Amino acid sequence: MMATKMKLPGVVETANGAERPMTRTDLQKEMFWLTNIYTVSQCIFTATALGIADLLAEGGKSCDELAAATETQSVPLYRLLTALDDIGVVRETTPRFFELAPLGSCLLTGSDNSLRNYILLTADHYYACWPDLPFSLRTGTSAFVHQHGKEQYAYVKERPELAAIFDRAMIELSNMHNDPIVNAYDFSGVERVMDVGGGQGGMALSLLRRYPHLRVVVFDQPHVIERARPFLEQRGVLDRCELVGGDFFEELPGGVDVCLVKNVLNDWDDAQTLTILGHCRRAIGADGRLLVAQRLGSAAATLETKILDMNKLLIRSASRSIRTEEDWRQLFDKTGLRLQRVIPTETEYKIVEGVSKGNYSGATHSPHRVCV
Ligand SMILES: C[S@@+](CC[C@H](N)C(=O)[O-])C[C@H]1O[C@@H](n2cnc3c(N)ncnc32)[C@H](O)[C@@H]1O
Repeated sequence: MMATKMKLPGVVETANGAERPMTRTDLQKEMFWLTNIYTVSQCIFTATALGIADLLAEGGKSCDELAAATETQSVPLYRLLTALDDIGVVRETTPRFFELAPLGSCLLTGSDNSLRNYILLTADHYYACWPDLPFSLRTGTSAFVHQHGKEQYAYVKERPELAAIFDRAMIELSNMHNDPIVNAYDFSGVERVMDVGGGQGGMALSLLRRYPHLRVVVFDQPHVIERARPFLEQRGVLDRCELVGGDFFEELPGGVDVCLVKNVLNDWDDAQTLTILGHCRRAIGADGRLLVAQRLGSAAATLETKILDMNKLLIRSASRSIRTEEDWRQLFDKTGLRLQRVIPTETEYKIVEGVSKGNYSGATHSPHRVCV
């Protein structure tokens, strides 16, 4: 199942290509499988926690070798491995001998497309919140806080091992969308872009690799921006970056052609979002563009987006539902911006582009602490 709707068509294709209405048994089979989908996630989680993909990265291995390396028993491990073969993570090339399949590359430590830490976070800690969905529906508050007595960030901070997984998971998640955003939007006529809440610089890297002429301002909290420096330096693009630490509720540096705000604004209510958007608007001046990049809510949103919206309800106490295009139009309007277009990307993220409506009141050239 890709990130699509799962609504049943109400008909079943028969062996000769014709269609017939679904029977009661068809419906039961479908519901049986939907109810058991959590098992797929748990097989992937366990394979990740055991490091199966990393073991197979060096070359194929027998079930017995994998069992020895993971301190598991060969007989039950074989049951997991055959399920993983069906899921597409490994491939049983000869009896009881397994190789890594293409999908398994996402479980590798440090691969370009790794989701290893995201899997460890989601299929363990977030998964544990779902039995308390009725609590969140009744109270409108976080199941995570209900279970742990504190917000996720505070909880994670107290557990260094989990904090490391969390940080890496956020980078993996971020990387998944960076190149698709850069591929979907034409930055060729742009000189200076600011990534607001740019984290450790993953988006800046994607931009700079694709557009050698660009300069990118990465703006984030001072302690976060410090972590961006080694990341960008190691990848040889630091000389085209300005790393600026500050608070986007206070002000932003000015003089940029494009302000990009990716996956930041859904963390904030409308009043806070308007403050950030106002600072972005001043930063881009009269002729610049504001790009908000994230998922958009709508009745037509995919199941993936709707499920992640529910996940947010469970995890974050102050979460709001994912904003729709119309929500953005109204927020832009209140900021003196016109929503010009919504650009799809090859992931679920969309780029909402805003341009000035006029009535521009001047750019800020603020004395931020510039780290580089
Ligand atoms: C969900 S992360 C998104 C990071 C990045 N844009 C991405 O897509 O991966 C939100 C970012 O906003 C930053 N942030 C939160 N509050 C901030 C503030 N008051 N001023 C500047 N940055 C802030 C966080 O440090 C974090 O890097």
